[in-house]
Amino acid sequence: MQSEAEPHALHAAIIMDGNGRWATSRGLPRIAGHRRGVEAIRRTAEACPDLGIGTLTLYAFSADNWQRPADEVGGLMRLLRSYLRNETQRLARTGTRLSVVGRRDRLPAGIPEAIVAAEAATVEGRRLHLRICVDYSARDAIIAAARRLEGGEATRESFGQMVAGEMHGSPVEVDLLIRTGGEKRLSDFLLWEAAYAELHFTDRMWPEFGEEDLAAAMTDFAARDRRFGGLKSSRVMVAA
Ligand code: FPP
Repeated sequence: MQSEAEPHALHAAIIMDGNGRWATSRGLPRIAGHRRGVEAIRRTAEACPDLGIGTLTLYAFSADNWQRPADEVGGLMRLLRSYLRNETQRLARTGTRLSVVGRRDRLPAGIPEAIVAAEAATVEGRRLHLRICVDYSARDAIIAAARRLEGGEATRESFGQMVAGEMHGSPVEVDLLIRTGGEKRLSDFLLWEAAYAELHFTDRMWPEFGEEDLAAAMTDFAARDRRFGGLKSSRVMVAA
């Protein structure tokens, strides 16, 4: 697909799994894994443009994650708040446009406003579109879009726009979907947008993920033969 950043740039999406296991295996509280996970976000996002990735979508907090213990949820929300406050300048400096995708009405006070401010401050970013999913559910987005359908009139394109719009997102097809942490499932992430995504699973725990892992995923992706249900192969050009 064509990304908003530059023609031919790819859309990669990552389920950042393994923070808790990384931390507990070191005798640390789970939140320490999430904290290290923020550093992995920075490393990974900054590696994207040179690897030919123009849009990066990260799954930071699912609608089902509210079920976690209150101290973990509170810790994650504090991390999000400080990320929005402290990272905006760096994002703007590195040409990164930030969007936060997901529901905003259940977030703690002040965070929706911080999201609007961070998005406005980075809107000129052209090297990378970084989309962070918070309180996100692909199923809820699809149900909400279906409820708004009038007379059943929809195309894949128009319905895709509605699905994305339900979560404050834009309709962007996923090219490569990566999951870290050794599990192999989609966990209600971008179910509509990832219809033809190539899947890459790695045992690397998210806090340790970085440029080399992303490059390895891109090498794997470059070897795939994408046919989109047809017979014609469309191999993807990937940056060297
Ligand atoms: C899944 O790993 C990870 C999460 C639910 C949270 C991801 C959050 C971050 C990387 C940092 C916060 C993000 C921002 C933008 C500030 P898990 O904890 O379920 O791992 P486990 O399977 O090992 O328990």
